[in-house]
Amino acid sequence: MISIEEFRKHAHQMVDWMADYYHSIDKYPVKSNVNPGDILKKIPDKAPQEGEPMSEIFEDFKNIIMPGITHWQNPKWFAYFQANSSYPSVLAEMLTATLATQCMIWETSPAATELEEKMMVWLKDIMGLPEHFEGVIQDTASTATLCAFLSAREKTSNFKINKEGFSGKEKYRIYCSTETHSSIDKAIRIAGMGDKNLVKVEVDEKLAMKPENLENAILEDINSGKKPLCVVATIGSTGTMAIDPLSKIAEITQQYGIWLHVDAAYAGSALVLPEYRWMADGLEYADSYVFNPHKWLFTNFDLSAYYVKDKDVLIRTFSIMPEYLKTQVDQNVNNYRDWGIQLGRRFRALKLWFVLRNFGVVELKNRIKNHIDMVQELIIEIKNDPEFELMTENPLNMICFRFHPGSINDETTLNTMNEKILQKINATGETFLTHTRIGRTYVIRLVAGQTYLEKEHLQEVWQLIRKTCYDILKNE
Ligand SMILES: Cc1ncc(COP(=O)(O)O)c(C=O)c1O
Repeated sequence: MISIEEFRKHAHQMVDWMADYYHSIDKYPVKSNVNPGDILKKIPDKAPQEGEPMSEIFEDFKNIIMPGITHWQNPKWFAYFQANSSYPSVLAEMLTATLATQCMIWETSPAATELEEKMMVWLKDIMGLPEHFEGVIQDTASTATLCAFLSAREKTSNFKINKEGFSGKEKYRIYCSTETHSSIDKAIRIAGMGDKNLVKVEVDEKLAMKPENLENAILEDINSGKKPLCVVATIGSTGTMAIDPLSKIAEITQQYGIWLHVDAAYAGSALVLPEYRWMADGLEYADSYVFNPHKWLFTNFDLSAYYVKDKDVLIRTFSIMPEYLKTQVDQNVNNYRDWGIQLGRRFRALKLWFVLRNFGVVELKNRIKNHIDMVQELIIEIKNDPEFELMTENPLNMICFRFHPGSINDETTLNTMNEKILQKINATGETFLTHTRIGRTYVIRLVAGQTYLEKEHLQEVWQLIRKTCYDILKNE
């Protein structure tokens, strides 16, 4: 292993490399264009017996690993949802890696626990979340949703399933819309509820859950002896950024005494703007809520903010107290190992602290507003272009569209053509976009929210999209 002096030397070199990388990130193809197995072939089958020099390892990083990297921090990243980073966040991650502290309980790093507690208060405040919420950092929204289901299960069973397991008579039902993220389906399985007990409620023309269908499904279940356990409402669905009508859904969950979990993984960051808080009307009735600063709030993956109405239910669901983890201060502090699944926890709060302080709330608002505004301007341009079809109305920063020249009306041809267009755009390496389907219709999906994105980037990509569409049309 290298000495401390070599560590210093290489660390300086790597920081220079990091700054150069961000400076010239647009020189790399946004989406890696290697073939399956290309990287595998270049890595020896066995680990070396003797240590290798750091300089050689770093060269291999540049030559072998970098070609297989897809560059999420390129401003022309419009695929999936962003997993944003930012300079203050990267700096904090360097310190986190250096301290390499494991923050399972207060005593294993009091500053990590107390900073996490304070960051959850700051976030609640700047996002205008309900005052009574209490928060904890989870790794991902998938984990937070699983925590919600397990907590709902335990609360409803009076903490019996934790003790005795399922009796086989529970008949619990969970409801979400047909547009909900797949992490809900996965959490149902892990929580032992079974795919067949996930009820997918129909959506309206905006692809948002129909509350009347939710209520009918709940009543039907109650009448047939089943037990409605939890409803998941989404603010900003993954496919099309649909926004479920939260306040109407909350009325229903209140009326029938059902746990309400709200998944705002991506769009939750927009609540920093008071003018978008209508999306969260009714959130005060939620039992649990998750959004990901690691998506649109410029904070490195992984950092999910999970808020609950009643932290005692969460802690009772997860707390196990072996002798070796007991401390003198357990009654006076938060031990976050009891607030979720993992025992060992990374020091995640540090990067959020760096981001919130270095950006400041005003800059966070400006960037997010800027993303939304540039998308809304482009939406007007697309609406006025007879050869393009806008597939959803969206108030935030996603555009779902397809190329639809007047000469073509066959749906299968349009689907195939738009699929080809997307492949050709991504093969240029200039940008990266992904797709979804609305019903059977193939739709190109563009999400404009990368940390370093400027209006010119979006315009360049829009011109590339247009050119690609007409090139393909010419060759059809
Ligand atoms: C609406 C929604 N919920 C949940 C998730 C899962 O997020 P994570 O990767 O943090 O588990 C995503 C991911 O994109 C999402 O869009």
